Amino acid sequence: MTVPFLDEPSDEGERLQKVMARMGIGSRRVNEELIEARRVRVNGEVAVLGARVKPEEDEIAVDGVVYSSLPDTVTYLLNKPSGVITSASDPEGRPTVVSLVPDEPRVFSVGRLDFDTEGLLLMTNDGTLAHRLTHPSFGIEKEYLAHIQGNPSRGVLRQLREGIELEDGITAPAQASLLGPGLLKLTIHEGRNRQVRRMCAAVGHDVQRLVRTRIGPLVDPQLAPGAWRPLEQAEVLELQRAVRTG
Ligand code: URA
Repeated sequence: MTVPFLDEPSDEGERLQKVMARMGIGSRRVNEELIEARRVRVNGEVAVLGARVKPEEDEIAVDGVVYSSLPDTVTYLLNKPSGVITSASDPEGRPTVVSLVPDEPRVFSVGRLDFDTEGLLLMTNDGTLAHRLTHPSFGIEKEYLAHIQGNPSRGVLRQLREGIELEDGITAPAQASLLGPGLLKLTIHEGRNRQVRRMCAAVGHDVQRLVRTRIGPLVDPQLAPGAWRPLEQAEVLELQRAVRTG
């Protein structure tokens, strides 16, 4: 009789922390800590250290988020430059965000940024995540740096925070602060067409340059314009948590 080495797959499956590592959840060490902290469930039951699983059959969840053993979804964080259209193709032949990321697997943008807007944009083939991130009921925060004409008064900042009457209705409460001359930080959780530009124009401060600097928990000041990177599993987890808690 051969005794299987402890870490080898056996009829009872493979070590949970090893399978979790392959799914990209964390290193084996991190996964062991997650298991010890009782944050991991297998088929709905809190898992213990030493548990073995069959990745094709067992459902593994961390903090209530279920992982698929086959990482068939990808999500990229792109720093969209100005002059690129948020679309899969453009009849006018302008560069598209899709042309900036790998062809396979095919991904689409989560929401949109205007042709002239720069900054963070998620690209994914995960329809559920995309739906949640764009649906107003989940209210994910988006932070923008707007280079605007003139300096808004305190009263104008208050108006931006409390709501601006636009042609498609009043805007939801937002955060607005002046970071420097003509530099406004605006955090909104709606995703209406050209919303930041229209809000600023409505209070007499046209936007000259607009950069999205945060999507929910995601920031990346190191990501160069035009560059992209896959989200780390921990970031996907944070994002999923953000859309669950609103
Ligand atoms: N608000 C805008 O006005 N434009 C964008 O691209 C994003 C938010």
